[in-house]
Amino acid sequence: MAYDLLLLDVADRVATVTVNRPDKLNALNDQVMGELESVFAELASRDDVGVIILTGSGRAFVAGADIKAIAARQSAELGSMARHGQSVFRAIERSTKPVIAAVNGFALGGGCELALACHLRVASAQAKFGLPEVTLGLIPGYGGTQRLARLVGRGRALELILTGLPIDGAEAHRIGLANAVVAPEALLDTARSFARAMLKNGPVAMARAIAAVDGGLDRTLDEGLALEAQLFGSLGDTADMREGTAAFLAKRPAGFTGK
Ligand code: COA
Repeated sequence: MAYDLLLLDVADRVATVTVNRPDKLNALNDQVMGELESVFAELASRDDVGVIILTGSGRAFVAGADIKAIAARQSAELGSMARHGQSVFRAIERSTKPVIAAVNGFALGGGCELALACHLRVASAQAKFGLPEVTLGLIPGYGGTQRLARLVGRGRALELILTGLPIDGAEAHRIGLANAVVAPEALLDTARSFARAMLKNGPVAMARAIAAVDGGLDRTLDEGLALEAQLFGSLGDTADMREGTAAFLAKRPAGFTGK
């Protein structure tokens, strides 16, 4: 499928999706959101893709929801905008293929929330993460109040949300918002090296690992453990589990088929 405001490149089983609206710092208007929804649906069904990297063109990852589009909206429209954005980001979070945000620059508001919906975040030292919605008289509406607190804890989440101040890649890494921080020129290579490590692993196992970790966050410990045991057991029906264990015992690399 062709996209106007996204670039899509697939090589060596890694899809790189680049939000490409650099003149507006890749702000999320309705078209970008629609295209993100479509591209993740496309990538979910493509057999030639095992891992997805999400990044931005120019000096921004994504500088937020499009403030011009928000400015004139009333309550009902703002509410439905939040629900739609949340569902797009939830689909990214629920992707059965790992999604790595390569945060090259501004990741503000909806851009920070988009990065939060990804499974890993690799930050450029030049990245700026923040949730400045309160400076506009708003609050984060694409999952930021929920995911940031889950990732870095209530105190740090409220600090970022209530001050609206941005933090750089090093600070994001220090507080656990970013998995790694690297020089700008090493950003995509670092994201690709995470992707290559993942591509060696059983695809079904990775999908169930995502389901176990994310599903467990919404449950009590006992319910989460029950979910883990159920998903662990379900892997006994997969060819990948037979192959992975047989390959280990035969001292050879595994050849996973995703079945
Ligand atoms: N929505 C709509 N347009 C945006 C945008 C957003 N979230 N972020 C940036 N842009 C546009 C600017 O309006 C400007 O467009 P113009 O050239 O037509 O005037 C262009 O992108 C470049 O941004 P500019 O503000 O000139 O760049 P800067 O380097 O001076 O500042 C930022 C960069 C990121 C600090 C600043 O753009 C900003 O604060 N953006 C909004 C961040 C935000 O509040 N996001 C949460 C939204 S809910």
